[in-house]
Amino acid sequence: MKFFSTLQAFAVIALGTAFLSAAAPVSSSEIQEKSSQGLRLLSLADGADPVWKTEEEKLDLQRQEAHFFDVTETYELEQSLPKKKAAAVTFPSPSHQSAVKSLLTTVSVSNMQTNLASLTAFNNRYYRSSTGRDASQYILDTVKKIAASRSDITVSSFTHSWTQFSIIAKIPGKTSGPVTILGAHMDSINLSNPTSGRAPGADDDGTGTVNLIEAFRVLLAADFKPTTPVEFHWYSGEEAGLLGSQAIATKYKSDGVQVKAFMELDMSGYFTPGTKEVFALQADYIDTGLNTFLKSLITTYSAFGWAMDDPCGYACSDHASWNKMGYPASFPYEAITGDDNPNVHSATDTTSVKGFSWTHSIEFAKLAVAFVYEMAI
Ligand SMILES: *[C@@H]1O[C@H](CO)[C@@H](O)[C@H](O)[C@H]1NC(C)=O
Repeated sequence: MKFFSTLQAFAVIALGTAFLSAAAPVSSSEIQEKSSQGLRLLSLADGADPVWKTEEEKLDLQRQEAHFFDVTETYELEQSLPKKKAAAVTFPSPSHQSAVKSLLTTVSVSNMQTNLASLTAFNNRYYRSSTGRDASQYILDTVKKIAASRSDITVSSFTHSWTQFSIIAKIPGKTSGPVTILGAHMDSINLSNPTSGRAPGADDDGTGTVNLIEAFRVLLAADFKPTTPVEFHWYSGEEAGLLGSQAIATKYKSDGVQVKAFMELDMSGYFTPGTKEVFALQADYIDTGLNTFLKSLITTYSAFGWAMDDPCGYACSDHASWNKMGYPASFPYEAITGDDNPNVHSATDTTSVKGFSWTHSIEFAKLAVAFVYEMAI
């Protein structure tokens, strides 16, 4: 995540114009041939045909703060799925205030600090580096340990063609569905030197990652047994074009999984000192009914309010992978764009920068707990 650049706006307009007449779909043999040459198939704008880029060109796009889906590995499955848009959804207002408020008193900063210290100690969590792999193993072990007391809960790795894996923890419901999903991405990137450069990724997305671990811990400590199932996802390869979340969201769609709601936490630990603290709600590629639900959750349970963020545009974070599959998705962000963390994708994304705040971040872990409880109990 997550920048909106003027350059990107121009790119979108240019692409929109260039690709108005749809070309034939990319064939299976073309995908096989080009990807075996190391090329990547990127979707750069809504409705535009995807384009082939080298890894170096792809990295240059990232350095220009362009957003895209890397669809090399999901394009064919996606093409085979029905294109039907999801109907608008509505959700009831929060109605379990005493139970939720009591749960929220047990959300702890110290667990998040411990986990974030471990995650930032890896040189980077790049999706194709060995330390990126080690980081996914650390999260898997940590989440498994939390779930150890409950034989009904499964925690598993979701492997990819690259080295770092994604993770899915499932809390079964008393009924089979639909499922409520929380997501965060585990990978980090140093844009000047992805493979071996330092990328602590404290905020992007260490904070979202540990917020979800803490929400999971709090719910299990209270022996949470929902009516409808709940899943926690930690994604690999978000920084490389939303790879992990696309692999999982397209698989869920193709398997016919019903998803009640998806919420992404990607950066929750920073706001520009002196500005008003808010949950900045993503305004595009989201479900407005789900945003209405989020607003009422925030008003009911949070220490500060919400504000609508400026539209981030295409393929900003993992919520976009779920939105693309027609599932209701949402994304509360740490601050209005411009008041958010300027240190991302670099060696200086640490907890010691001025503006990093655990009392800010903990509100997102609490929101995750409230979201799951009110949605699924
Ligand atoms: C990337 O990593 C190198 C080596 O660790 C570091 O010197 C450099 O500052 C990093 N790049 C950025 C953009 O932070």
